[in-house]
Amino acid sequence: MQEKRLGAFLISMSTHILVTNSKGGCGKTTVATNLAVSLQVRGEEVVLWDYDIQGSSILWSHNRMAASEENSRIKPLKAVACNSNKPGKETLSFQRYKYESAPFIIIDATAGKIPDGELERLIRISDMFIVPAMSSSFDIKATERFLTGLLTHRLYRSRPRPVGLLENRNIGGRDTSDGFLNFLACIDIPKIAELKDSPIYQEAADAGLGIAEMGDTRAAQREYKSWKKVLAWVENRGTEESRKPPRKAPRVPGSASSSEIVLTKSEAG
Ligand SMILES: Nc1ncnc2c1ncn2[C@@H]1O[C@H](COP(=O)(O)OP(=O)(O)OP(=O)(O)O)[C@@H](O)[C@H]1O
Ligand SMILES: [Mg+2]
Repeated sequence: MQEKRLGAFLISMSTHILVTNSKGGCGKTTVATNLAVSLQVRGEEVVLWDYDIQGSSILWSHNRMAASEENSRIKPLKAVACNSNKPGKETLSFQRYKYESAPFIIIDATAGKIPDGELERLIRISDMFIVPAMSSSFDIKATERFLTGLLTHRLYRSRPRPVGLLENRNIGGRDTSDGFLNFLACIDIPKIAELKDSPIYQEAADAGLGIAEMGDTRAAQREYKSWKKVLAWVENRGTEESRKPPRKAPRVPGSASSSEIVLTKSEAG
């Protein structure tokens, strides 16, 4: 009992960032893994919680482990599988690790509709919510429904926390629809950044890397600029300040500078 209370205290010292949207394939895992790497590259300690039984973040962390064995500049990043194959049951490893503290815990949410009990637990523990969304009319409709459900949930309303939209797979030259931007403005949700539709995301995922480690190609540099906006939003705890151009984040001694892509093109493969 005492151990459980201590565990709950340790958990509350972490910043839990829930990456979620009921729309499948919108980029939850891509965003969770890239955010984890962006923070790790800045010298932060990060753990990924994979709530999706498809286990994509777990697979990515295995790819990363293999990459780290070949390149000492890539640090492994722990991912814990949370849901077992039995509905509503946690895995034994999650029961063991969930009270371990890390400054940042990034949660890759279940694909599809989250069961009520799990949703309540996730809303309760999360300090920030990032909602990746693509810009087709189907995706926008689903995202509007999802955001409305989140913002009107009693556990969110009793303790509102920062929610940000991350537009994913933006096709160059196409603007976000005015209707959707108006909707976001009405519910006071910022669009944190825009990620382009680029093969570099799949290449990074297959290699267990994040954009911050994808070398100095134009695509990597362009996307890393968007990731710096996401970092600024996280570091500013989603405050008004993050809606202005991001300020330079303080450097962690020994970590890569914020303007530095960590691996060269040849190292990123
Ligand atoms: N910005 C992007 N550019 C190109 N491909 C992308 C981008 N974002 C995601 N993808 C690709 O789209 C597919 C779906 O992305 P991802 O797995 O991150 O979505 P998801 O929301 O986690 O899916 P699920 O709902 O099944 O968990 C993956 O193959 C991924 O590599
Ligand atoms: Mg996923």
